[in-house]
Amino acid sequence: MNSVTKDRLIVALDVATERRARELVNSLRGIVGMFKIGSQLFTEAGPQIVSEIASSGNGVFLDLKFHDIPNTVSCAAVAATRLGVSIFNVHASGGREMMRRTADAVSEVATIEGLKRPSVIAVTVLTSSDATMLSEVGIGSEPETQVRRLSLLAEASGMDGVVASPHEVAVVRSTVMSSGFLIVTPGVRLAGAALDDQKRVMTPAQAIRAGADYIVVGRPITSAKDPVESTGQILEEMESGLG
Ligand code: C5P
Repeated sequence: MNSVTKDRLIVALDVATERRARELVNSLRGIVGMFKIGSQLFTEAGPQIVSEIASSGNGVFLDLKFHDIPNTVSCAAVAATRLGVSIFNVHASGGREMMRRTADAVSEVATIEGLKRPSVIAVTVLTSSDATMLSEVGIGSEPETQVRRLSLLAEASGMDGVVASPHEVAVVRSTVMSSGFLIVTPGVRLAGAALDDQKRVMTPAQAIRAGADYIVVGRPITSAKDPVESTGQILEEMESGLG
C-alpha cells in the first residue's frame, strides 16, 4: 500500500478500555498513519496512552476540542505539544484571540524546547448541529454560512486547518484560499456499510476526491471482526479516490 495513502487515514480509538486501545494500536501500527484519541479514551486512560502511542512512532490526533478562555486553551495546547501529538483541535467559536494565542504558544514551545510543532485545527459547526439547534443557542445563520464564517476566522487566526464533514469539504475549499489548509474529515463509510449514527456520509474515495487531506474512521474498523482487513478495504478505496 502506498505510504501516502496510509498516512492519510486516521483511526478513531473510541473504545471503552485502554486494553482494547492498545490491542488495536498493536494490530494497526504500520498500516495506518495516525490514531485519534478523543474525550472517551482520554478520560479513561489519561495522557500516558497519548505519549506512549506518539513515542512509538505513530501520529496522534488529540481530539479534545478545547474551548475556554485564551489563557487556559493556550496552556492546554502547550501540554498537548509536549505529549508529542501530531494534530489537536479547538473550537473556532472560542474566537480569534483564543485561536491566535494557541497557535503562537504552540510555535513558541516547539521552538524553545526543540519539539515537533503539531498542526492545530478548528472545529467549525459540529455535524450533529442543524439550523434549529444553532438557533436555540442564539446563532441565526444556516450551518453552511456558519461553517464558511468560522473557517475564514480560523484561517485568519493562525489555524492550520479545520475538521469538516465530507459534505462541507467543498464549502471550505471554496472559502479558504490558503494552500496547505488542512481538512480532516470524519463521517466516512464504505458503500453499503452500516452508518451507525452518522447521517450524511461519503465513501473514502469520494471524501478524498472532494478534497479531504485526512479521513477519520472509527467503528467500521474498531468494531470490525477483522480490523486489519477492514482497514485494507478502506485504504484500497482511498487509493482509488487518489487515482
Ligand atoms: O465511528 P465513526 O467512524 O463514526 O467515528 C468518527 C469519529 O469522528 C468519532 O470519533 C467522532 O467523534 C468524530 N467526529 C465526527 N463528526 C464530527 C467531528 C468528529 O464523527 N463532526
